[in-house]
Amino acid sequence: MIDTLNHQFGIPGAVTVSEGNGGLPKVVLTHASGSSCEVYLHGVHISSWKTPSGDELFFLSRESWWQNDKPIRGGIPVVFPQFGGRGPLPAHGFARTSEWQLLCSGVLDNGIVNCDLQITETAETLAIWPHRFALGLRVMLDAHALTVGAQVINTGEQPFDFQIALHTYFQVADITKTAVAGLQRTTYIDTLQENARIVESRPEIRFAAETDSVYPNAPDALRIEDGGNGRTVAIDKVDMPDVVVWNPWIAKSQRMPDFGDDEYLRMVCVETGAIETKPVLAPGEKWEGDTTFTVE
Ligand code: BG6
Repeated sequence: MIDTLNHQFGIPGAVTVSEGNGGLPKVVLTHASGSSCEVYLHGVHISSWKTPSGDELFFLSRESWWQNDKPIRGGIPVVFPQFGGRGPLPAHGFARTSEWQLLCSGVLDNGIVNCDLQITETAETLAIWPHRFALGLRVMLDAHALTVGAQVINTGEQPFDFQIALHTYFQVADITKTAVAGLQRTTYIDTLQENARIVESRPEIRFAAETDSVYPNAPDALRIEDGGNGRTVAIDKVDMPDVVVWNPWIAKSQRMPDFGDDEYLRMVCVETGAIETKPVLAPGEKWEGDTTFTVE
């Protein structure tokens, strides 16, 4: 399978398909600058994004499962069509445990290396979510930026609604020296305080306890200040109204079997998507949104 995919989609120096952890196939994009990213066909997880000098931007748990029936813990899992446990489906939906199809790869005139992946309904998804759909992901790698675009099309005969998110795990040197900026004055829902709605007063969110908050209609430009590494990652989203900020801290880390007890110290999730107000698609309609991450 890997040979066939390479034959079809490989581009010398830019795109290769190889065997990743657990024998799962992954697409490796390499930009002329030396930046790179890796996308597993399993769950379309973007497991790694590195700068031209080889610094890793994404967190990946050393305890992650690498099995085709389990999500990968880290990188960017794609949440669809249900966020978390807010419905009858498995937590965060089925996209992150589906096998994705690689549709195309390329290098644009401006040097951006890209690939498109897709899932559509299967007998298994129809059994738990009775809708025909196409969910596409476009990954675009530049020297210092990664753009992930998502597209949902209703290919069926009935309308449906859904939730979607890029559940991005950022690697940071030290969570106690990390801040998320750009959310001040947004009213957020604090999952850890019985979904209390609170106006964000902090210009910078810092971490000293478990954090699990949804910011509906958040500003489109955010920043992660990774003080320990002395670097900033800018997050710019388009048509993805909501943001989630999550760190499991000590007790929840210990409860998660696929996450190291001390790993909360080196990560923060800043998720972008459509969660609070579910997009509704009539037959034939399309939803699109994207997020660009830039290392500064
Ligand atoms: C976040 C949720 O998006 O994902 C958290 O806000 C949840 O509540 C976290 O714990 C991880 O979820 P999972 O299913 O990957 O363990």
